[in-house]
Amino acid sequence: MIGDFLERMLTRCPWHLRAMGYLREAIGIRGRYRRCQQHWQSHIDHCHQIIRQAIGRCAKRRTAVVLGAGLLHDVPLVELSRSFQKILLVDIVHPFWSRWQTRRFKNVQRVSADVSNIVEELFWVSDEPDKPLPKSKPDLFLDRTDIDLTISINLLSQLPCMPMGYLVWHGAHTPEEIDAFARDVMQAHLDYLERLPGKVVLITDIERIKIDLSNRIVEVTDLLFGLKLPKAGEEWEWKLAPCPEADPRHHFYRRVVGIADF
Ligand SMILES: C[S@@+](CC[C@H](N)C(=O)[O-])C[C@H]1O[C@@H](n2cnc3c(N)ncnc32)[C@H](O)[C@@H]1O
Repeated sequence: MIGDFLERMLTRCPWHLRAMGYLREAIGIRGRYRRCQQHWQSHIDHCHQIIRQAIGRCAKRRTAVVLGAGLLHDVPLVELSRSFQKILLVDIVHPFWSRWQTRRFKNVQRVSADVSNIVEELFWVSDEPDKPLPKSKPDLFLDRTDIDLTISINLLSQLPCMPMGYLVWHGAHTPEEIDAFARDVMQAHLDYLERLPGKVVLITDIERIKIDLSNRIVEVTDLLFGLKLPKAGEEWEWKLAPCPEADPRHHFYRRVVGIADF
């Protein structure tokens, strides 16, 4: 495995995405996975199981799309690659190491795209208080007729994260404007998933849970800013950052929902 410095040098990433922290975040996820792998396993098993259920429901198996593929920790790529003619792995940044690991999968292609279709526009207006924040209008693959399965994997709550951080850093917009922006981006993603052809899987974290060392929940944060998912699904806990990963006195876990037939 290559080091973080090499990864940063070898990963193709436009400068506005680097400036907004997307590459740093991708490399950060890789490091956290390495440190917390054992604690993440049950989350990864749940993700794989939900995706397997969805594969089993697909009568046609031409193209499968994975939105938020990233480092592929949570994606059963071997099974997807055996089951479908073509797999499109979509992410705003594809770290070099992840590209390298999948180079031998002949039917797997990487697509570098902003699923929310808003990030570059936001980059240019984020320091201008008088300009309204752009509206997310996702349209990736809506014109394709060969897609039989789309998996949105641990992406929904991440879509507004880096843009929000960037907006807060510029300080040109109010917290209310920024929260409304986050809600809008996530609602646009849910609407987009409903318009895609074929079967759709949604796996997303919905709550951040802060737990003290006596296993008492001290704080629960709604990661969807009040949005409700249109369907129920299976729920589980993701031990994302067990103490002392993010804090010397607390664990930070996530409540995750997996909907095999969104
Ligand atoms: C929590 S990670 C998902 C986990 C990932 N499947 C893995 O195993 O590493 C969220 C992913 O969403 C991607 N992402 C964030 N915003 C995005 C956007 N606007 N368009 C496409 N991908 C985005 C990130 O680059 C990251 O890879």
